[in-house]
Amino acid sequence: MTGSAPTKRLFIKTYGCQMNVYDSERMADVLAPLGYGVTSTPEDADLVVLNTCHIREKATEKVYSELGQIKLMKQARAQAGGKMTIAVAGCVAQAEGEQIMLRQPAVDLVVGPQAYHQLPELIARAHRARGERLAADFAADEKFDALPVARNPDGVTAFLTVQEGCDKFCTFCVVPYTRGGEWSRPVETILAEARDLAAKGVREVTLLGQNVNAYAGEGGLAGLARQLAQIEGLDRIRYTTSHPADMDDALIEAHAELPQLMPYLHLPVQAGSDKILKAMNRAHTAESYLRLVEKIRAARPDIAMSGDFIVGFPGERDADFEATLSLVREVGYAASFTFKYSRRPGTPAAALPGQVEEAVKDERLARLNALIDEQQRAFNAAQVGKVLPVLFEKPGRHPGQLSGRSPYLQAVHVEGPERLIGQIVPVRIETAHKMSLAGVLEMESA
Ligand code: 5AD
Ligand code: SF4
Repeated sequence: MTGSAPTKRLFIKTYGCQMNVYDSERMADVLAPLGYGVTSTPEDADLVVLNTCHIREKATEKVYSELGQIKLMKQARAQAGGKMTIAVAGCVAQAEGEQIMLRQPAVDLVVGPQAYHQLPELIARAHRARGERLAADFAADEKFDALPVARNPDGVTAFLTVQEGCDKFCTFCVVPYTRGGEWSRPVETILAEARDLAAKGVREVTLLGQNVNAYAGEGGLAGLARQLAQIEGLDRIRYTTSHPADMDDALIEAHAELPQLMPYLHLPVQAGSDKILKAMNRAHTAESYLRLVEKIRAARPDIAMSGDFIVGFPGERDADFEATLSLVREVGYAASFTFKYSRRPGTPAAALPGQVEEAVKDERLARLNALIDEQQRAFNAAQVGKVLPVLFEKPGRHPGQLSGRSPYLQAVHVEGPERLIGQIVPVRIETAHKMSLAGVLEMESA
């Protein structure tokens, strides 16, 4: 199905009805993109699935006795330095649930008939639970997986990692498999590092995490921001990347109350069609995202929104893509990152029907980019005539020029003395470009 040869062996034992026979085939289909090819013997399988049936009396007992046999095979594999994962599916799984794992601890996962599409996620979670990383299965892809690199080391801005990993399992994404589960650094460690950065002259920190607003240290991300805001000299706090599902009221409130929390929020939505969002396993609808943005803007009316978008996800029709454009029009983004859907072997979406032709993706990407560019230009143009506090970071490209950032993360260029680097200074914005602003120091123009 993926075009690549299987690297792992899958043994499925099917009990009962024709429905189960059909489901077993579906499971094999869902698992093929993860590199599983079907084998006829359980002994050498990397993954054993018992697709159970509940209809006959004593069926459950039969399953447990079968599991006892497979457990011995799992032990033999382990002794030989290998690994076997055991899954129980079907009606017994439905009826008994997690009970099965209590009674037979060799079982790694239990999956009911409604959840076979989640098998890749469940297997990844089971592997994580026993401390395995799955990175070897995936080719690294910097474009989708890399965190931003420091803009200017030893400078006035710094990145600070507070969280890693992801539990969201968007069906297109490799991160939950390659980076593992969500994990947060303790508050104290982060505060100590931030104090140290501030002492070295850092004025702005960007808190980093694949799912930064899922930060689970005490007080969550809002609490962390409040504590960071108390550090002398640390005048600006940013964070990226956030998931809509973790954008809680405390964090929104912090945006209303903390002047240090910069009015710029990267909040990927990925698509505007509910059908596609569901297939992406995004856990939000277009409507719930729009309501969330509304709530954030009620707390901080000037906030600049930015997003990530994928065009050409499997099954995306013209009408779905139009829904993305209309969501973009409704939100009005200050900046965005746009991607053509790229099929990543091992992710559930790679196995979905309705893969979109490259030419269609190109055309949609061009239309989306045109709209995003227009919004970005409009957002920049709206700053002309305003006075913005600019944190100067470094000399500009031309002699006598300084380069800094507005609260909205726009690059700002002015003529000015180098001693202003590291300071936050009012700048009167005179011209706007697609990617940057130019202006004059307010004190000199007055
Ligand atoms: N294809 C296209 N875009 C992807 N992204 C992640 N995985 C894929 C993929 N397989 C994009 C998402 C995510 C951003 C970091 O990369 O938009 O938010
Ligand atoms: Fe990937 Fe982000 Fe989705 Fe996590 S939330 S699975 S990192 S796209």
